[in-house]
Amino acid sequence: MCGIVGAVAQRNVVPVLLEGLKRLEYRGYDSCGVAVHADGDLQRARSTHRVAELEREVQDTALAGFTGIAHTRWATHGAPATHNAHPHFSGQSRGKARIALVHNGIIENHDELREELEAAGYVFESQTDTEVIAHLIDHLYSADLFEAVQAAVRRLEGAYAIAVFCQDEPHRVVGARQGSPLVVGCGQNENFLASDALALAGTTDQIIYLEDGDVVDLQLSRVWIVDAQGNEVKREVHTVQIHTGAAELGPYRHYMQKEIFEQPRAVGDTLQDIQSITPELFGDGAYDVFKTIDRVLILACGTSYYAGMTARYWIESVAKIPVNVEIASEYRYRDSVPDPRTLVVTISQSGETADTLAALKHAQSQGMEHTLTICNVGTSAMVRECKLSYLTRAGVEIGVASTKAFTTQLTGLFLLTLALAQVKGRINETQEHDYLKALRHLPVAITAVLALEPQIMAWADRFASKENALFLGRGMHYPIAMEGALKLKEISYIHAEAYPAGELKHGPLALVTDQMPVVTIAPRDELLEKLKSNMQEVRARGGELYVFADADTRITASPGMHVIRMPENYGKLSPILHTIPLQLLAYHAACARGTDVDKPRNLAKSVTVE
Ligand code: M6R
Repeated sequence: MCGIVGAVAQRNVVPVLLEGLKRLEYRGYDSCGVAVHADGDLQRARSTHRVAELEREVQDTALAGFTGIAHTRWATHGAPATHNAHPHFSGQSRGKARIALVHNGIIENHDELREELEAAGYVFESQTDTEVIAHLIDHLYSADLFEAVQAAVRRLEGAYAIAVFCQDEPHRVVGARQGSPLVVGCGQNENFLASDALALAGTTDQIIYLEDGDVVDLQLSRVWIVDAQGNEVKREVHTVQIHTGAAELGPYRHYMQKEIFEQPRAVGDTLQDIQSITPELFGDGAYDVFKTIDRVLILACGTSYYAGMTARYWIESVAKIPVNVEIASEYRYRDSVPDPRTLVVTISQSGETADTLAALKHAQSQGMEHTLTICNVGTSAMVRECKLSYLTRAGVEIGVASTKAFTTQLTGLFLLTLALAQVKGRINETQEHDYLKALRHLPVAITAVLALEPQIMAWADRFASKENALFLGRGMHYPIAMEGALKLKEISYIHAEAYPAGELKHGPLALVTDQMPVVTIAPRDELLEKLKSNMQEVRARGGELYVFADADTRITASPGMHVIRMPENYGKLSPILHTIPLQLLAYHAACARGTDVDKPRNLAKSVTVE
């Protein structure tokens, strides 16, 4: 959620820290701050505005130093206010700050620690759980920051990634992680910390992924890591190619718009140059796993969960394997009946979503060892944790609202469907060939749907004045309706709900008036005639229909019935195409309402806290 950067170098590190913050800002943007060791003192600048504003402030005050940390915050404990912004200091009450700290995560025993530290004389300036860690480290400090941090993290319960430095040790930054991501960037006589390698693009490509329980000591020419038991550990240094191009907007107004229009490329890249379906696309040993399993459990959150729901329709109908799809944050805490012959599939753009990771670990702890992830980040915890994986090639997704990540997840999940069906003998070569052909044609088909943007913009203007909307779909398009409703609410703040169209008369029809726009996904499939009846039920109550109808559905525009014609029905892959206009509708409605499309209020891109 929050973004962390740290640096120890022989040059002014403030530009590196700010550049890193700009790249991480999409992870949380309630406030930001930077602290450095300067002229023997700890100095900081904090802002409840965006990083660009902080940068101006830092330039005005000429803040500079060789050692420093920085943070962009997604508020959990305490409102988005300057006094709650990181870095937090400790030691001021003795006249001079000694410890500076940034944190991502949630400390569950912060109340208890706070009481203890207050009793020891510490005065708290913020409502955050983070300040507790700063004071705890200060309390335990006696001339060695690394030791103090090791002692402090033993007292913490919950999730954290932290970066700390100390006034008494000017060329040292210490980091630690448990449940929240943290990487080390190794340079020449300089070293860095960040919650994501992306933050260090252009600074170093030599990255170490810390593991849970690790504490790292960064000095100018030394990176020293110990595990939770305090034993020295060597972690592999990876050369990571980070594409900074993703951070350029090009001709687009927002990253979300750019990412919507990148989908033909992203889906094409995700398909790579796959010549044929084989289980090994998902990793070595996939054939044996696919042969063994007789059910699938999908775990995910948000948009990724809707990808999973769509995949259930595909896997059950093509591969004939029963599928259960669970919201990760619910699954991890409910009593379920484990079955070791289950393929556990996690879906995640970031690969760092705390709830999905915890759900995966829960499934593993129940004896379900066949794990596979569909993920967009090859170096993420999710990929490291799962035995099998398929990497989507969406590229870095900056907009908080997931777009290209979703359609590439669907692409990967359809490939998984085909591989499972092949191993189980549920499809023949001709069917396989036809599905592959349809997959390969997707980039062209998506491009054709993107050309509908001007018509969708006209609709979006009408939506901008509404406060509610309903989304209807049936069958495998029901999850797409849910995804459309999520997109609209998260970026335009219009309240939107999705229903399977047949469910309307069981309650939600009561909401339908002439003020209620009802977006309907109308592919030409076996449920079309049923759907048309549901649409009539809406029209009869004065509801205004906005229908995305396949060309061959014979649905035509009439008063109260607006129709945008999609290409002809795209068979099993139709959900991918029907997603695109819903993304554009949400995007343009949000633009018309003047919201902060890429950084919608209260949200963050990677949800690395529970
Ligand atoms: O990185 P993940 O795919 O695991 O993230 C899951 C959700 O947090 C994410 O899809 C969220 O719902 C998006 N904001 C939706 O646009």
